[in-house]
Amino acid sequence: MPDNGLIQLEDIHFGYPQRRHLFAGINFHVSGGDLLGVVGANGSGKTTLFRILVGLLRPHRGMFNAFGRAIQSPPDYDELRRRIGFLFQDSEDQLFCPTVKEDVAFGPLNLGKSKTETLRIVEETLASLGMSGFADRISYELSGGEKRLVALATALAMQPDVLLLDEPASGLDPRSKRDLVEQLARIGGTQVIASHDMEFVRATCRRVIVMDAGKIVADGPTDAVLGDESLMLHHGLEVPHSLAAEGRIATDHHHGSGPSHGHGHGTSHERQEHT
Ligand SMILES: Nc1ncnc2c1ncn2[C@@H]1O[C@H](COP(=O)(O)OP(=O)(O)O)[C@@H](O)[C@H]1O
Ligand SMILES: [Mg+2]
Repeated sequence: MPDNGLIQLEDIHFGYPQRRHLFAGINFHVSGGDLLGVVGANGSGKTTLFRILVGLLRPHRGMFNAFGRAIQSPPDYDELRRRIGFLFQDSEDQLFCPTVKEDVAFGPLNLGKSKTETLRIVEETLASLGMSGFADRISYELSGGEKRLVALATALAMQPDVLLLDEPASGLDPRSKRDLVEQLARIGGTQVIASHDMEFVRATCRRVIVMDAGKIVADGPTDAVLGDESLMLHHGLEVPHSLAAEGRIATDHHHGSGPSHGHGHGTSHERQEHT
């Protein structure tokens, strides 16, 4: 690869029985160190994209490469799931053991780590998230923000190369949201964050793609994309208030002059993958 590409989807087709042509040739790439926001109105296909990336759904057609290999056979998918950490849209779907400790231990044990090694990983992961005191707590009794951090701990305990976070800010109060922003900044690495919370995306991502009805309609630096008012409105989104407050909205509505169609101001169309 000419760049440090970790994941490439090319010309991917996928649909559900009730929504046959949701993705009709989507192109998507993630490079090492990307902090990538995936924004789009409800139903635009963010979660479906993530389910494909983590191997829960298989594309009907197209090329899927990850970590230097084509993802086709069951061992490829095993490798994919081992290397991609996934934070589910609903944390309750991710926490199914009685205690926090058991939930976080589940992944490492499943990977064949010893009990001692697992215990060490559980303690370190919880400590890194400021959750050491929660090891013996009952998962379902935690607050929404605490559940989100424990769910994040279960993903991090697998020591993934890429972290996919599906609506990580949803349902969190402002303080929990700020805590999560701080934790994600500390964790770093390669993250892909789906959200319709534009402030959260602005606080966590360096690059943003916009999805609408199963298409990627823009791709570029966070502020160039989120600050393009006509692009955002056209696709059912809004410019984050913080950008508006800084007076950094691109309000010119001339067709194609902002990142709306990906031809200007530092953004690139999805097909222009490598620079
Ligand atoms: N399991 C499913 N079966 C049928 N249609 C689905 C299923 N999951 C999602 N869809 C449809 O696919 C489209 C994209 O959904 P989704 O990927 O969940 O979008 P988002 O995460 O952006 O809200 C929507 O029209 C949704 O109704
Ligand atoms: Mg979703």
